[in-house]
Amino acid sequence: MFTSTVGAPIAARTPDQPARRYTSITVTPASPHIGAEITDIDLTSDLSPQQIAEVKDAFVQYQVLFFREQKISFDDHIRFASLFGTLGRHVGAQTISKPTDHPLVRKFHYDENSQRISGESWHSDQSCAPIPPLGSMLYNHTVPPDGGGDTLFASTYAAYDALSDRMKTFLSGLTATHDGARVFGPGTPKSSHPIIIRHPESGRRGIFVNWDFTSHINELPRSESDAILKFLFRHIGRDEWACRFRWRPHSIAFWDNRCAQHKALWDYWPNVRSGFRVQIEGSAPPIAG
Ligand code: SIN
Repeated sequence: MFTSTVGAPIAARTPDQPARRYTSITVTPASPHIGAEITDIDLTSDLSPQQIAEVKDAFVQYQVLFFREQKISFDDHIRFASLFGTLGRHVGAQTISKPTDHPLVRKFHYDENSQRISGESWHSDQSCAPIPPLGSMLYNHTVPPDGGGDTLFASTYAAYDALSDRMKTFLSGLTATHDGARVFGPGTPKSSHPIIIRHPESGRRGIFVNWDFTSHINELPRSESDAILKFLFRHIGRDEWACRFRWRPHSIAFWDNRCAQHKALWDYWPNVRSGFRVQIEGSAPPIAG
């Protein structure tokens, strides 16, 4: 059995998370800590109020939702994503994704000409923004024929829960700088956020630093900051609180940037992986936990 750094077993679910019943959709967990596949739903049509409420509940409970066999248009994508908030635009100055003829939809396309892909290290999207996005919804209509191109998701709640009480106390009250220039080049935002944050809907605590954007802990000398961040990046990316989504054509992954990190695998060159993504704006800066 895997044990945390203090030797305690990791509980599959925290006691403050009551079991929820879903009656208008089917929810199948993808792992003990993160992710669920939603079936018995058609995202090309309007959803019932009950379905909307249950998908929202499932999003808060599972942190990333997966949908299969959804041949959605831009309008479908925007209608569904808009149920969760205002749709926004990427803050990046130089991004790998491309605009489409719709200002809120970006194209994520990779093929034999690609030099790199977006999101190969663990990150939460655009944490460099003063108010980072609430979440992102990626639809891939085309995926590599022989597999590959999976996306990994990690629960920052479970990563927080597994820290020792001493480490939780040490990190509480510290802040870190998230620098967009590390990923998107000059002209992108730089912001400070608490390291331990509290999710505005679930109330759970999670760790909010990531490999891509976080440059340093503001209150520590650089050598101490580097060592602590290195530990936290590796800790968040541990297999024990991650799940792995295997894409099929016309699948959707919808992740909560406030409590999940993700990482895309580029193991399929020169094959094609292609789709569209929208992002849902956050409504407030991350809250200290
Ligand atoms: C990203 O994080 O930018 C992309 C995620 C993916 O393509 O799976």
